[in-house]
Amino acid sequence: MRRKPILKPLFSRFRYLRLAHKNQDFVSRHCWRKPGAITPVARIISNKDFMRKLFVTGGAGFIGSSFIRLALAQTDYEIINFDALTYAGNPDNLEGLDESRYRFICGDVADREAVGAALAEDTDAIINFAAESHVDRSIASAEQFLRTNILGTQVLLDAARARRVRRVVQISTDEVMGSLPEDETAFFTENTPLAPKNPYAASKAAAEHLVNAAHHTFGLDTVITRCGNNYGPRQFPEKFLPLVLSNALHDEPIPLYGDGRYVRDWIYVEDHCRAILNVLENGRSGEVYNIGARNERRNIEVATAILDALGKSHSLIRHVKDRPGHDRRYAIDPSKVERDLDWRPRETWESGLQKTINWYAENGSWVARTRNGAYRDYYAQHYGTEISAR
Ligand code: NAD
Ligand code: TYD
Repeated sequence: MRRKPILKPLFSRFRYLRLAHKNQDFVSRHCWRKPGAITPVARIISNKDFMRKLFVTGGAGFIGSSFIRLALAQTDYEIINFDALTYAGNPDNLEGLDESRYRFICGDVADREAVGAALAEDTDAIINFAAESHVDRSIASAEQFLRTNILGTQVLLDAARARRVRRVVQISTDEVMGSLPEDETAFFTENTPLAPKNPYAASKAAAEHLVNAAHHTFGLDTVITRCGNNYGPRQFPEKFLPLVLSNALHDEPIPLYGDGRYVRDWIYVEDHCRAILNVLENGRSGEVYNIGARNERRNIEVATAILDALGKSHSLIRHVKDRPGHDRRYAIDPSKVERDLDWRPRETWESGLQKTINWYAENGSWVARTRNGAYRDYYAQHYGTEISAR
């Protein structure tokens, strides 16, 4: 029987995968643990050399679309963007992408058949951004969060095994670690125990457990990133920073929960995406990487910084009813990603915020389209006040 033509490519792919794993092990054992010594070797033998095709989920959202832009601009990767286009998925976010290396597939990560049909055999990595991502919505109703964030992650892990995908990168959040005291010496590290305090965070923590279980039980190559609050272009204005910005641009009241002194650790979205790309290519299998820009701000400070930059009065701020179970403080210690992967943020708070403000000011039609009927209904229901249709 003439088997060679079929078997040869299979064997060579198998060899290639084993080689890739071997190299990864080599780099892991000899390089990653030595601060300072790793970077040159990591660059010579990195996953980058074996990556060609990425399967990005949730790429029509805020961070996923920024990641796709960055990856297309800075690498030769081909990218499939698999996204269900929920209320948060916005095709406008994907305008102008280089379609010779990029394709969109509309689908639900919790739908096994759809994922199985979309995930090609030769996919090298899955980067899972797909999620229900807004804490307030998870407090109103958790069910969709469980389906997308937990079941969806398991479906992707199963599909990755079935298709022999080289690596799965799970985009997680600092919120899985719960709330820190206001003591400025307390930080989230990779060893901080998971202690989620709201349904969104609980669903993301469950997803992390499933990712770790797939790594431990089946030897799947997985990496988890945990980042703080992102800000930048194309963020849906249900989240605090773009909500402040779009309301301020429309001279509308800014709702500040409780005393407004809650602390978040802010990072410019492109800095986060550069860290994800780095983790994809150089991160150690089975590890978690906390990503942060050492930029803690109280919510009141974020609101006043935006109002000042726009020349608007602080009197737009309204203290409103607090979020139930509101986490007091998030603060990330990013030492590991800085030391082991030589990553640093490029934007300061001032430069990132100015870029963000400029983008929203210059993209009024994007903002107007997101403030559509469904958004205004959500807003009226959640805040008990109306916003304009402009
Ligand atoms: P987003 O809400 O802007 O986008 C989520 C995307 O996922 C949307 O395009 C949506 O259509 C898609 N999606 C939702 N359900 C889906 C499903 N069932 N199947 C396929 N696609 C689906 O979210 P984001 O702010 O871009 O966050 C992306 C990821 O990063 C999330 O996993 C989130 O938990 C994580 N994260 C976000 C932040 C932040 O500050 N925004 C911080 C840390 C981690
Ligand atoms: P958010 O953007 O929802 O992110 P997360 O809760 O996941 O960190 O909220 C950021 C902070 O802003 C958080 O402390 C809650 C607060 N907040 C307000 O004060 N008013 C608002 O209208 C919203 C949406 C959030």
